[in-house]
Amino acid sequence: MKIRYFDHAATTPVREEVIKEMLPYFGVQYGNASVMYSLGRNSKKAISQARKQVARAINCDVDEVYFTSCGSESDNLAIKGFAYANKNRGNHIITSKIEHHAVLDTCKNLEKNGFKLTYLNVDENGVIDLQELINSITPDTILISIMFANNEIGTIEPIEEIGKIAKQKNIVFHTDAVQAIGNVRIDVKKLNIDMLSLSGHKFYAPKGIGALYVKEGINFEKLQDGGEQENNKRAGTENVAGIVGLGKAIELIYDEYEK
Ligand SMILES: Cc1ncc(COP(=O)(O)O)c(C=O)c1O
Repeated sequence: MKIRYFDHAATTPVREEVIKEMLPYFGVQYGNASVMYSLGRNSKKAISQARKQVARAINCDVDEVYFTSCGSESDNLAIKGFAYANKNRGNHIITSKIEHHAVLDTCKNLEKNGFKLTYLNVDENGVIDLQELINSITPDTILISIMFANNEIGTIEPIEEIGKIAKQKNIVFHTDAVQAIGNVRIDVKKLNIDMLSLSGHKFYAPKGIGALYVKEGINFEKLQDGGEQENNKRAGTENVAGIVGLGKAIELIYDEYEK
């Protein structure tokens, strides 16, 4: 039976070009990127190339890209990592009622640990009210986390305006862009985005690979202890094939925008 697949918001198949790019890293190029000899150096080079591909696509610097295992991990690392590292500055975080559970449950977890959360309402189209956002800001607000595009109804939030408000008030702005990449062109500088979460399997890369952009100068704590991978922000031997796949997939999207 022929399958007609209409649920690319749930996941996407891996593009052929992406599979081709990844294949050597399952086979001949199996080196651990942390070792000094050539096999390891080849993996390290492949990871740097993918970091460049992500940085070019979203207009950030290579050192601002961290690879993770998925969108959920990126959201956890951004929100909890930032909250714990900056709790001396304030304990209030603003998000919306329609975030993915990767954000909502992370926020609930922070509430149990002394943080105060505001969950913004949305209108009948799923859009937050910018005035409610402004009214919710207190001297203790350290973070605003509003999704770029909603996973159920496809609403795109007013990201540029949120970015402006956050910048004016000196509050860090995180956006879960897991559903946006490939549907909306994202320029983190133009949109004043400070942290942004991505997940490979929503844009024709495999499952089990994600990325987090964090603007230089923003302090966040690592959540997973162990090795010093990802600039000592995310311990664990890198999923080189997955990283290569995510880099290739985002490059293909960027190239399509440039056409
Ligand atoms: C908006 C949004 N954020 C986060 C996630 C979680 O991403 P992942 O499945 O890579 O953990 C999803 C997955 O559906 C999503 O739609």
